[in-house]
Amino acid sequence: MTASTPFASGRDADVYALDGGRVLRRYRDGTDVTEEARFMSHLHAAGFPVPRVHRADGADLVMQRVPGPTMLQALVSGTIEVVPAADILAGLHRRLHAVAPLPGAHGGERILHMDVHPDNVLLDPDGAVLVDWRNVRHGPPGLDVAMTALILAQVAVDPDQPMAAAADEMQRAYRYALCDHAAPLVADAVAIRRANPTQTPTELALLDQAAALLTS
Ligand SMILES: Nc1ncnc2c1ncn2[C@@H]1O[C@H](COP(=O)(O)OP(=O)(O)O)[C@@H](O)[C@H]1O
Ligand SMILES: [Mg+2]
Repeated sequence: MTASTPFASGRDADVYALDGGRVLRRYRDGTDVTEEARFMSHLHAAGFPVPRVHRADGADLVMQRVPGPTMLQALVSGTIEVVPAADILAGLHRRLHAVAPLPGAHGGERILHMDVHPDNVLLDPDGAVLVDWRNVRHGPPGLDVAMTALILAQVAVDPDQPMAAAADEMQRAYRYALCDHAAPLVADAVAIRRANPTQTPTELALLDQAAALLTS
């Protein structure tokens, strides 16, 4: 498939507009999307807000294009406030962890996204949609909760981040919104984050400080 200029790029993938209200998401490192697409199709069928998958082939995923800004863009432009945004993240996690897992999940395990943060949420006028399912897996819901809190805390403790104060407010509001859900498995999330090759040296250096914020 030929593709021109991406309309969006993240740490792992480039996203190209296609006709017919679709996008092509292509992993730059060639990662196979079969597993991710299988989970996405299951979630879509269960009514969870995830783009409909049209085709999965090697590193290419063709899916429904979601209109609307990312939650991060909306926070920067001021069209959404921090606490309502945190409540959306928490609500997505509650809904996700209520979906029946696929065959093969062990007792108590649920579907985890493992990278829920404001740049992976699209604010469709019909409701928030969760994208970027690269890290999807079965596991304990508290791991998913801890990962989001940790990602926000990493921004909160970084003095070079203009959104540090907002991220701190957000991680607190997010954890409060889920205080009756699943206890965050912070140590496990830190270990996974530490092994993530997309983390920069600065991010890794601040990881323990970020984790400490979650137990304060
Ligand atoms: N289905 C989609 N519709 C519209 N925009 C999308 C869609 N999927 C991804 N994007 C945009 O592309 C960006 C990068 O995609 P993402 O899946 O998050 O890749 P990465 O792993 O590189 O972060 C997202 O932050 C979002 O702005
Ligand atoms: Mg992303």
